[in-house]
Amino acid sequence: MKYSLVAALLVQSTVVLGNLLSVHFKAPTAAHFYELVRNDTYDFGCRPIAHPTEDGHFKLHALLSEQQIAHLEKEYESVPEISLHREVMVKRAATAPIGTGDRFKSGTVAPVGLGTQASGTTISSIMNVAEITSAINALVKTYGVSTITLPNKTFNGATSVAAYVGAGTDKSAYHLYLSAGVHARERGGPDQLIYWISDLLSASKSGSGLTYGKKTYTNAQVKSVLAAGIVFFPLVNPDGVAYDQSSSSLWRKNRNTKSGSSGSSVGVDINRNFDFLWNFKKYFDPSEAPASTSPSSETFYGTSAASEPETKNHVSVYDSFPKIRWFMDIHSAAGDLLYSWGDDDDQSTSTTMNFLNSAYDGKRGVVGDSVYKEYIPSTDLTNVKNVAAKTVAAMKAVGGRSYVTMQAVGLYPTSGASDDYSYSRQWAKSGANKVYGYTMEFG
Ligand SMILES: *[C@@H]1O[C@H](CO)[C@@H](O)[C@H](O)[C@H]1NC(C)=O
Ligand SMILES: *[C@@H]1O[C@H](CO)[C@@H](O)[C@H](O)[C@H]1NC(C)=O
Ligand SMILES: [Zn+2]
Repeated sequence: MKYSLVAALLVQSTVVLGNLLSVHFKAPTAAHFYELVRNDTYDFGCRPIAHPTEDGHFKLHALLSEQQIAHLEKEYESVPEISLHREVMVKRAATAPIGTGDRFKSGTVAPVGLGTQASGTTISSIMNVAEITSAINALVKTYGVSTITLPNKTFNGATSVAAYVGAGTDKSAYHLYLSAGVHARERGGPDQLIYWISDLLSASKSGSGLTYGKKTYTNAQVKSVLAAGIVFFPLVNPDGVAYDQSSSSLWRKNRNTKSGSSGSSVGVDINRNFDFLWNFKKYFDPSEAPASTSPSSETFYGTSAASEPETKNHVSVYDSFPKIRWFMDIHSAAGDLLYSWGDDDDQSTSTTMNFLNSAYDGKRGVVGDSVYKEYIPSTDLTNVKNVAAKTVAAMKAVGGRSYVTMQAVGLYPTSGASDDYSYSRQWAKSGANKVYGYTMEFG
């Protein structure tokens, strides 16, 4: 129960769109998209995921320029099974403007989430980067939340902070870890995380429950969630978020200029930089591109595993809180909850067919084949799926929207992602705890 409440934060979202055009492809099977998603000149958002539709088809979201749309419309003239649809455009600035000033008054006014306010209340703007810091300071001041300064400054010199709450000062009593703000353009992640924590703290303190949409949680439930011990890192990529907010450019990566100093060549995709099969040229089948070696790609993997300060900071949290068991990275906007693994199909029969076994180097990542599938113990697979199912059920009870749960590999493998990294630690790092890892894509 308590872990499904964790996900109730995800109803507070606002759909955001920018100057690229939001489209989706529709086809009778997910396999129809295999070729399309292999072209890394196209931007499929967080990850290319085919979602089942109500009429028994599959839908694939993308962000494309007018030229790319024209090119693909022409290409698919002879492939009538695959259709391309433009989505209704809403200017992101109109639906979710960036806040100006500081609504938390230099850390003196605590954030108040939607679960402790009258139904129908809305939050009218996205927090600016300074407000995120101010919000954390206000939680410290109002509720005595503890913070930890993370070891690495970002490329532009920002200091990152994670906070922890609910289980006292013993860091080994913390079991839940949530992060947001990895992909800069996926606006609203940091806001939801902070407002949700604020709701828990407010309800706990006042002895009340929480109401989200049609769903009410008791004070006892609120207290049990907090007692699990929550570590939260709401703004993993402050440089990227600051840049996206000031330019409205749908920026995704960080702002490191080591590999490229202008335009799209700036920045590393933090969610391809984690130390999990990072060197995909070595580990994956040559036909697969789970990340990119090109600095101008949206999925540029960086210069080495965990080369980026944001990645290092993220990882340092596991070392500070050694008993973290459940991790969720909050992204947007496809509307899904993804569970392990993301590098290939799951299998629970061969323990030796795993990411550490060099016998399989050069063979990973082909979805649907039997040459390689990633090992996950069957009890873990049951657990990670069950909690995913409970989470989306709780989200539906709150927001009405049906989220899809699926294995992260979906149509296409990824390397160096935060969720796979979290779950791989138990085997890759001696003494590391088992961490079930999720990626949520809200909105
Ligand atoms: C990827 O798409 C572009 C058009 O956007 C096209 O020119 C190119 O040939 C495609 N690459 C592959 C490998 O299919
Ligand atoms: C990041 O922080 C760690 C721990 O303090 C330190 O050892 C390392 O040198 C730092 N790396 C960079 C690139 O700043
Ligand atoms: Zn993302």
